[in-house]
Amino acid sequence: MLSSFLLGLVVIACNTSPQNNSKNASTDSLINNPATYGDADYKEGTRLVAANDCLGCHKINVRTTGPSYDSIAMRYPFTEGNVDLLAHKIITGGAGRWGQVQMTPHPTLEIRDAQEMVKFILSLRNRHQ
Ligand code: HEC
Repeated sequence: MLSSFLLGLVVIACNTSPQNNSKNASTDSLINNPATYGDADYKEGTRLVAANDCLGCHKINVRTTGPSYDSIAMRYPFTEGNVDLLAHKIITGGAGRWGQVQMTPHPTLEIRDAQEMVKFILSLRNRHQ
């Protein structure tokens, strides 16, 4: 798990150009200080997102390989059904909802951990209301 996290950091470092440093500020604070980022109710999900490979493909407010977490939060209201739907999608991976690029499957994730991550992501909608 540590190695995939480090790989994620390398990918992020390679993607970072001077122009988008400020846009990535919230992603940086999530990586450096997950316990204090985002909604206090979803700390465990925040920590899990930072500890897995997610941030190698997703940033908070900029589209990279995957859609930004902000745009996911704006597309899916925070309902039990959407938490379940997206948690399963993280585990099985796949494409089609945002384009043709595949999300890699995460078959070793526990469904409950995936649900916690989705709750953190969907809670980002609160920042826009
Ligand atoms: C290899 C790159 C990659 C990694 C790693 C990755 N994702 Fe994704 N993710 C994507 C792509 C690409 C999509 C868009 C898939 C689509 O179009 O259906 C996506 C979509 C999503 C969605 C929205 C799914 C939907 O059906 O709308 C969520 C939620 C998500 N990712 C969360 C995560 C989490 C949490 C992790 C870490 C456990 C993660 N992703 C790791 C690339 C990735």
